[in-house]
Amino acid sequence: MKKEDKIIRYTAPERINHWVTAFCFLFVAISGLGFFFPSFNWLMNIFGTPQLARILHPFAGVLMFCSFILMFFRYWHHNLVTRDDILWAKNIHKIAQNQEVGDTGRYNFGQKCVFWGAILLLLLLLVSGVVIWRPWFAPYFPVPVIRLALLVHSFAAVALIVVIMVHIYAALWVKGTITAMVEGWVTSTWAKKHHPRWYRELQQKRSQNE
Ligand code: HEM
Repeated sequence: MKKEDKIIRYTAPERINHWVTAFCFLFVAISGLGFFFPSFNWLMNIFGTPQLARILHPFAGVLMFCSFILMFFRYWHHNLVTRDDILWAKNIHKIAQNQEVGDTGRYNFGQKCVFWGAILLLLLLLVSGVVIWRPWFAPYFPVPVIRLALLVHSFAAVALIVVIMVHIYAALWVKGTITAMVEGWVTSTWAKKHHPRWYRELQQKRSQNE
């Protein structure tokens, strides 16, 4: 492939940031499912012993939150909803048939929903997680508050797992997307097809710098 066909989408620090978040997510999701469903109790052993999983789960959760916050400040302005996103959402049936709709910028409406869904659910998980964190914080809260926090934590966790499953499916489904987060680049054909406005903006910047 010619060098000019490759477009940088993520720098190395951005990719490290993403994969730290993703690995923390896998750790907390797997250990959390292990705590929650008796039929999944065996998942607690994936990281050594159930005791170790129980100790590390909240720390990994806090690390995931902090890592995602860095991503949040990097990308929030690319995830603001525009008029083209409404068009995209109304034509979701065409998107499902692999057609493109609207003048999509750096991210499409589906990606924006994942982004805002993730920050909302991570906030709920952090706050409820602190309330139920024994032995450090839970003793400071009354039992009804701990019960409510357990409910919120469980629902937010299941919702985040579903959101991330959609995110992974979309990343694998749209051919050429995985290299963006693994090696940092996409092809110009990919950019023109899936994110035409982002591609034009890059071309404009490039011609201004020449
Ligand atoms: C575990 C497996 C995961 C895979 C295979 C994966 C894959 C990817 C890929 C390929 C991209 C680039 C998409 C593009 O630029 O068009 C991406 C972007 C992104 N990922 Fe992941 N990801 C995973 C987990 C996560 C998790 C756990 C989170 C957050 C909790 C997350 C949050 C994001 C965000 C915020 C972006 C930037 C897109 C945006 O701002 O809308 N990812 N991911």
